Amino acid sequence: MKHFLDIHTTSQEDLRAIIDNAAAMKTARAGRPRGALDADQPLKDHMVALIFEKPSTRTRVSFDVGVRQMGGQTMVLSGADMQLGHGETIADTARVLSRYVDLIMIRTFEEATLLEMAEYATVPVINGLTNRTHPCQIMADVMTFEEHSGPIRGRKVVWSGDGNNVFASFAHAAKQFGFDLTFTGPPPLDPEPALDGLYTIERDPAKAVEGADLVVTDTWVSMHDPQSARERRHNQLRGYQVNAELMAQARPDALFMHCLPAHRDDEATSEVMDGPNSVIFDEAENRLHAQKAIMRWCLER
Ligand code: CP
Ligand code: NVA
Repeated sequence: MKHFLDIHTTSQEDLRAIIDNAAAMKTARAGRPRGALDADQPLKDHMVALIFEKPSTRTRVSFDVGVRQMGGQTMVLSGADMQLGHGETIADTARVLSRYVDLIMIRTFEEATLLEMAEYATVPVINGLTNRTHPCQIMADVMTFEEHSGPIRGRKVVWSGDGNNVFASFAHAAKQFGFDLTFTGPPPLDPEPALDGLYTIERDPAKAVEGADLVVTDTWVSMHDPQSARERRHNQLRGYQVNAELMAQARPDALFMHCLPAHRDDEATSEVMDGPNSVIFDEAENRLHAQKAIMRWCLER
């Protein structure tokens, strides 16, 4: 059983194969209508459940379109509308779903929910974001970096802002793909201690981005953060906004990434988001290609 639960729990060889396959699948589809089927149909006669316990635009649409392009069918389920939201255990839900579908993608709150789903499902399970990680996003981000700037190995990536779930998957990727990762943000919003050793800290954002090949940020308030923390977080993070002044300290060809959705002119200015170094919409597109490759990998015998 091949689950795609996290970047650090997938081998370096498999991660590389997924990225290369995603790029090949993207090239093979170039210029074709979105609704056209892929030439090969690895998900033909396959049924995929897409479960969302949190909102989503990109994950929801890119998985749905990706499954259809590969010949499969999807059902999009909201956690709140399932018995999952009314007390049925994750283990029982996993065993039941495994009798109906061939693959499960789940976006949830607690990592424990994802892990219990994977433990009891007899079909592959894919992590579509938890409070702790967002591996599908970072697979798309590595693919996007390499499309624009070549191999990511040995390059310098700088994260400015909250040490959140998306950062955590970047930290896992830094080790697996061999790039240098610097975190710049306020101490109260440091990444969790489990990630220590995977990145370096530089509190001064201008110094942090010196020599950066890629500057990344994300929302200051994630879906699992209490709204009551909003004002405090904005005050803590204001100095870590990615703006033109900060980007000017990085390499001239440094890329800018944001997984989206963004709060324009909070964590990043519109000038940067819409500027020549920004690849935010390529990242969004590459979710489709990267996840198609992840699903193929999960279903390979
Ligand atoms: N980046 C990302 O996962 O976006 P959604 O929340 O819209 O799925
Ligand atoms: N850190 C954000 C990412 C959204 C795709 C969140 O968890 O809300």
